[in-house]
Amino acid sequence: MNRIIPVATIALGLLLAGTTGLFAQPVSPEDAAYGAADYATYCATCHGRDGKGNGPKAGRGNKPADLTVLSQNNGGQFPFIRVYNLIEHGGETRQHKRDGMPAWGELFAGENSPMNPETALDTKINDLIEYLRSIQVKNKPPSQTK
Ligand code: HEC
Repeated sequence: MNRIIPVATIALGLLLAGTTGLFAQPVSPEDAAYGAADYATYCATCHGRDGKGNGPKAGRGNKPADLTVLSQNNGGQFPFIRVYNLIEHGGETRQHKRDGMPAWGELFAGENSPMNPETALDTKINDLIEYLRSIQVKNKPPSQTK
């Protein structure tokens, strides 16, 4: 898995140049649609169809996160780097537990076979992030968040 880190880091830098500079950048509907399909395939079992963490595999060990409040919990800004790394490397970047968030880097790098692995990985994660950005709840006043 380590083999893909440097390339992903470079790709991430390029992505960030496009993402953080304009963090109000609108979601790309086309990318988000690809991301939604992948989300249904890989993520909904734990995080739920609605992203709120109540999928059929939720509840054993770690509780899957509510993915609709990532921006809200980060001062209204989508935590791009953290989410990108977490999808690629799994929950070991936080706490490695059984039933924790799996790593998807190797699987994604092997898909979309006409693409090279780095592009395939990067495309998958980016599309997923576009989808996740599209399901963020609007910020609530701080008094209502907890
Ligand atoms: C086997 C169940 C499982 C699957 C499948 C899964 N996750 Fe998770 N995910 C978790 C758990 C449990 C956590 C919280 C604890 C942790 O980080 O280990 C989590 C945390 C996250 C977080 C961090 C949220 C935060 O507030 O920090 C993100 C983002 C995330 N998952 C995205 C995804 C995406 C995208 C997919 C599909 C590619 C996915 N997950 C598939 C179980 C899962």
